[in-house]
Amino acid sequence: MHIGHIPLANRLFAAPMAGVTDRPFRQLCKRLGAGYAVSEMVTSRKDLWNSLKTSRRANHDGEAAPIAVQIAGTDAQMMGEAAAYNIDRGAQIIDINMGCPAKKVCNKWAGSALMQDEPLALQIVEAVVAACAPRNVPVTLKMRTGWCAAERNAVRIARAAEAAGVAMVAVHGRTREQGYKGDAEYTTIAAVKAALRVPVVANGDITSPEKARDVLAATGADAIMIGRAAQGRPWIFREIAHFLATGEHLPAPEVQQAKRWLLEHLHDHYTLYGEFAGVRSARKHIGWAVRALPGGEAFRASMNLLESCDAQVSAVTDWFDELADAHTLLPLHAAAANEDLVELSA
Ligand SMILES: Cc1cc2nc3c(=O)[nH]c(=O)nc-3n(C[C@H](O)[C@H](O)[C@H](O)COP(=O)(O)O)c2cc1C
Repeated sequence: MHIGHIPLANRLFAAPMAGVTDRPFRQLCKRLGAGYAVSEMVTSRKDLWNSLKTSRRANHDGEAAPIAVQIAGTDAQMMGEAAAYNIDRGAQIIDINMGCPAKKVCNKWAGSALMQDEPLALQIVEAVVAACAPRNVPVTLKMRTGWCAAERNAVRIARAAEAAGVAMVAVHGRTREQGYKGDAEYTTIAAVKAALRVPVVANGDITSPEKARDVLAATGADAIMIGRAAQGRPWIFREIAHFLATGEHLPAPEVQQAKRWLLEHLHDHYTLYGEFAGVRSARKHIGWAVRALPGGEAFRASMNLLESCDAQVSAVTDWFDELADAHTLLPLHAAAANEDLVELSA
């Protein structure tokens, strides 16, 4: 599959998640089978571009291609400028955020709220395409099925965006009004797929290889995008790739292998954030990695007491080594594995 002229390794995408899909996490997902991973959203507000948060989000040192950056905002000109700014920092694909339910930019609701104002949504698409086309950078759009149940306008917006030059559309199968409640529906995604010539990506509640197969079949989508189910389980991409190719399940990862992946992730994470911020923001990743494992909840709570990278690394190492004494393969704790997917907190 391609986005514009850019080839992808496969059709398994990591969804953009603010506070989660930073460069270390995207790298991990790509190493473990994701063909594509989109950055956390970068604001279109120029006054924030020099902030530590935004400059980290615009840092792609060592990132495997293609580098895709999501931008968020409500003003067409600012969005065009944000696209150019990120291209100058290495972005090879620019994604427009019309999918995120909770983000104010310049005191206006951005993300999926834009779906309520179709003329503005289209102006933004046109401005971003105008900024990207001369640099040969494809533009993609991430959206929901609509504003609310009575106004599922995804097909209309997707058609207009395609006519304006968008190279791919990803659809999360919920309305903006739903937030993360209820189940994702795939009928609207199938309708978007049927209406467009550019690739369409299905997103929402894909948590297993079987669900991946079923969503691909139900929507006819060119690719699937996985968000929350990859938290703590980034190898879900290779599990799905294997299942789609063979119809069989990969065995669970070895405990020692899962430990190595987590430690590699932590080292990468500390390198980007430094010790103070890195130790704190690593806690959630460690928590997700252990939550489905026996004793994981207690271990997750104990992480809050540790204040240094060394202490975190040795606690994680010891905990997984002890687990490995009892189990060769990761033993998933059924209740925790089935617990509700983590909701948007930021
Ligand atoms: C913590 C979190 C942060 C998110 N941040 C963004 C974001 O910055 N941009 C965006 O388009 N969607 C964002 N999303 C939505 C996801 O990309 C995805 O559409 C949604 O989680 C549904 O997919 P899933 O069921 O596989 O998680 C976020 C979701 C979560 C849980």
